[in-house]
Amino acid sequence: MAEQDSLDAAQQPAATGDMEPEAFRRYGHQVVDWMADYLGQVGSYPVLAQTAPGDLRRALPAQPPIEPEAMETILADIDRLILPGITHWNSPGFMAYFGITASGPGILGEMFISALNVNAMLWRTSPAATELEQVTLEWLRQMLGLPEPLFGVINDTASSGVLHALAAAREALADLHIRQKGISGRPEVPRLRYYASQDAHSSVDKAGIVLGVGQEGLRKIPTDAEYRMDATLLELAIQEDIAAGWLPFAVVATVGTTSTASIDPVPQIADICERYGLWLHVDASYGGSAAVDPHMQWILAGCERADSLIVNPHKWLFTPIDCSVFYTRKPAIVKAAFSLVPEYLRSDRLSEASATATLPDGTREHLRQVEGLGDETPNLMDYGVALGRRFRALKLWMVMRYFGQEGLATRIREHQRLAQLLVQWIDADPDFERLAPAPFSTVCFRAHPRGLDDETALEKLNEHLMENINKAGRFFLSHTKLHGKYTIRIAIGNIRTTEQDIRDLWQQIKD
Ligand SMILES: Cc1ncc(COP(=O)(O)O)c(C=O)c1O
Repeated sequence: MAEQDSLDAAQQPAATGDMEPEAFRRYGHQVVDWMADYLGQVGSYPVLAQTAPGDLRRALPAQPPIEPEAMETILADIDRLILPGITHWNSPGFMAYFGITASGPGILGEMFISALNVNAMLWRTSPAATELEQVTLEWLRQMLGLPEPLFGVINDTASSGVLHALAAAREALADLHIRQKGISGRPEVPRLRYYASQDAHSSVDKAGIVLGVGQEGLRKIPTDAEYRMDATLLELAIQEDIAAGWLPFAVVATVGTTSTASIDPVPQIADICERYGLWLHVDASYGGSAAVDPHMQWILAGCERADSLIVNPHKWLFTPIDCSVFYTRKPAIVKAAFSLVPEYLRSDRLSEASATATLPDGTREHLRQVEGLGDETPNLMDYGVALGRRFRALKLWMVMRYFGQEGLATRIREHQRLAQLLVQWIDADPDFERLAPAPFSTVCFRAHPRGLDDETALEKLNEHLMENINKAGRFFLSHTKLHGKYTIRIAIGNIRTTEQDIRDLWQQIKD
């Protein structure tokens, strides 16, 4: 227990208030100093936490603190106990899964978000949060080169977003009244089926589990030699399912798959969806951000025809996790799937204040187009499962303003340039083999020394190679399997990664 005199006034016995503003200011400065130091030296920590399972559990008391503890002690424990157990996603050497970044403006945005602590469930529970979300997502739509009107909301994750998309797709089967009556015990409801490539993210499968469509309700479509959904096989699968009594209702296409960052042929898939009346959802969680570079906007070809689309600024747009943007051309259907307003959440939506509120040019018209009259002050709780909503738009808004479209595009182009360097080195080395195209900044490859062709031995070798890199601490890589081959992935996406990092990594791999 701390000495009484090292405690703040707010921690003295019988005190009932919060930390006083002056104490907050003092600790706040310490914390910001800590953050600046941390970000400045994040590359010097082992990227992958080097702790053993249970280390932190054992270091912390099993009982909760009964008496107040001095803030100095708490802050010191961040360094002493927490930091050793951190895997540094902010490190320039983090190239596993998909690299992400909490950028300076994004972190400062998070600080405002928690200080303001608004819950943007209704327009009136913080008009600025709802309207900034609308304005920011309208800006992002323009940056990505997507046509209007497009209605957007920010969710925590793409996993929530795909669930919302498929719930809306199910709602679009209006005659079945599934929202009201459910699916089970209704012989008149055919078995529902949706489609995604065999390389689609596991969140696509999970959404079907949650929606009661079941894992059998998702039919995985084989990919071509470049890991893209085979659109011909998609159409054959739909026809076969219809003949067998299934009711197809949606297709999920991916722009930037998790294993190889491949791009499904969205224009052909959109044709098929139109032919069979299916909801088209595009998961551009990772790849979509690249379209802020006008030269990369081709990656979203066909997405203007999607019913819904996800782009995750918390993946490759330098915004701290969590920030996943969900766009839809059919907000009324998403709302029909989710809007449920108990008495205690009723609000006079078009209050005088909102009707006369000053919105940036075009925003009011934009909202009018997508929502219809009377819904220019949307209650964002109506567009998903969650009632409570963080003010996530604020951090994205700060990131977008701080870097500007050109700054964001320059960084994304640089990551792609670094990936192309790796591609060149791998392709030029007879002891390495690239296992997939690299349309973005993710490179899939393996060591394949001349004369060693036994697949089991190659798997062991590459597993060992990756483990050694990860143990050495400067870099963190992850793997996948492509056509049964153990594949190392290098996913460049952190704002701090430089050409020198990539050169050093390649040297380590070769050594
Ligand atoms: C293509 C793709 N979709 C969806 C997701 C899930 O993203 P989230 O963590 O936002 O749910 C991922 C995660 O890496 C992904 O790679």
